[in-house]
Amino acid sequence: MKQVEIKALIKEVDFEELNELDRRLVEAAKEATRRAYAPFSKYNVGAALLLDNGRIVEGSNQENAAYPSGLCAERTAAFFASSSNPGVAFKKIAIAAWVDPGVDKDWEEGFQKNPVSPCGGCRQALLEYEHLYGDIEVMLYGRDKTYILPSIKSLLPLAFTDF
Ligand code: THU
Repeated sequence: MKQVEIKALIKEVDFEELNELDRRLVEAAKEATRRAYAPFSKYNVGAALLLDNGRIVEGSNQENAAYPSGLCAERTAAFFASSSNPGVAFKKIAIAAWVDPGVDKDWEEGFQKNPVSPCGGCRQALLEYEHLYGDIEVMLYGRDKTYILPSIKSLLPLAFTDF
């Protein structure tokens, strides 16, 4: 028998440790949470993609009364980016999640403490673009810490890619 080990290198950083561009991307993801339509879950997610042409494209989760008809923030951002900038590589994605902290609280306090992590469906959708254009760095924002991963495939080992 042979054993195969799967490893992922995750950098844990404070927001202050990020360079200016990365901060801008995380801020864009945080701002995008304001544009979520999440009346059912009240979980407002924002995603910001940095494209190879320097543009930042944002998306937020869009829910629907017929629940499965809604879409996550990451796929909203990815599909919008690819539709509006066809053929342009995605270099990085930042993701943030905001839950209403209550009226007497600051907006910043609404962000999830732990890094928000994309669902399996979004990992698979993003992997497709990574296959086309090369690695997409992933920044998962949390109030306490931000995780940085080198690629989508590091979030989705043994992914379905051959067909
Ligand atoms: N959601 C996202 O937008 N991205 C994720 O990574 C996880 C979940 C959305 C889907 C749904 O609108 C709400 O968050 C609760 O699951």
